[in-house]
Amino acid sequence: MIVNDAVLRNEWIVACRAQDVQEKPLQVLIMGERVVIFRTEEGVHAFKDLCVHRGAALSLGCVKDGKLVCPYHAWEFEGSGACSRIPQLPTDQAIPKKAHAITYGCEERYGLIWVNLGNTETPWFPFEEFGAEGWRNVIWGPQSVEAKPPRIVENFLDVGHLAVVHEGYLGVETHTEIGDYRVHRVPEGIRSEEIEVFQPDPDGSGQAKNVYYTYEIARPLTVQFTKRDKETGHLMSILLTVQPKDATTSVAYGVLSFSYDPGLSDEEIVKFQDMIFAQDKPIVENQKPEDLPLDLQVELSLKCDRVSIAYRQYLKELGVVWGTA
Ligand code: FES
Ligand SMILES: [Fe+2]
Repeated sequence: MIVNDAVLRNEWIVACRAQDVQEKPLQVLIMGERVVIFRTEEGVHAFKDLCVHRGAALSLGCVKDGKLVCPYHAWEFEGSGACSRIPQLPTDQAIPKKAHAITYGCEERYGLIWVNLGNTETPWFPFEEFGAEGWRNVIWGPQSVEAKPPRIVENFLDVGHLAVVHEGYLGVETHTEIGDYRVHRVPEGIRSEEIEVFQPDPDGSGQAKNVYYTYEIARPLTVQFTKRDKETGHLMSILLTVQPKDATTSVAYGVLSFSYDPGLSDEEIVKFQDMIFAQDKPIVENQKPEDLPLDLQVELSLKCDRVSIAYRQYLKELGVVWGTA
């Protein structure tokens, strides 16, 4: 089933990790649409995973000399989508103009590959920590979730659950109160003020202390938090982005960034994040309604829910309908 959402079709939606696309074309499902991603010397490309000739899945083919070759009759498509070779056609005959793949916007950025189904010039959000000097970035995901994207994003923006769902890791049961904070509109989107959270071991040094969370909403399905240790100045951030795969499944990806050495390998960092995410998953997969209510009267909110209230308002303003009610 196709996921109909005019706003999300014009967003950069995460497709996969950059490392997932090497020599072989890859099929991904984005908003119910079968998309083939492949890599040539020019970079990455995304087509509808359907050959215009007889509907074969182009992702079953291969990349040869910078062209995507259909597995069925070996028509060859350039990165632009133009068909440049039809082996069955006598050489004196021109390639029909209609022999063209359906192309989508596709970019490799932040260690991930993003697709824009609407082919629009949607602006990119700033992500200064990526590739910057003194920062380490670790790609996390894919993590499949049986929930709609807005519920997953809102869970990530929820400060109140840290000491409950992630008790002993990201909070402790003796420190569940959330102090007052405000949320501001900024040119890049929406940003919260710093929120104090007491954590048993925020940076792997084994010392319990307060850390300060800032949440940012950059795009409808791309958000971030930064955690600051006031004593050491250490910063750690997670960028979360969610792919609406089909009507029931979403796939989460993240980029974890550190301004300090957490004393862990990339694998260990990913493993820890998987464990944290596994704590959220049953909550998010069982929330009702599955669609995030944008009418603020529908669920009871507290002052500490200001980030998620701002997120709901933001989705409403943009007109996101998929996964919202
Ligand atoms: S179906 Fe693709 S070349 Fe025939
Ligand atoms: Fe969580």
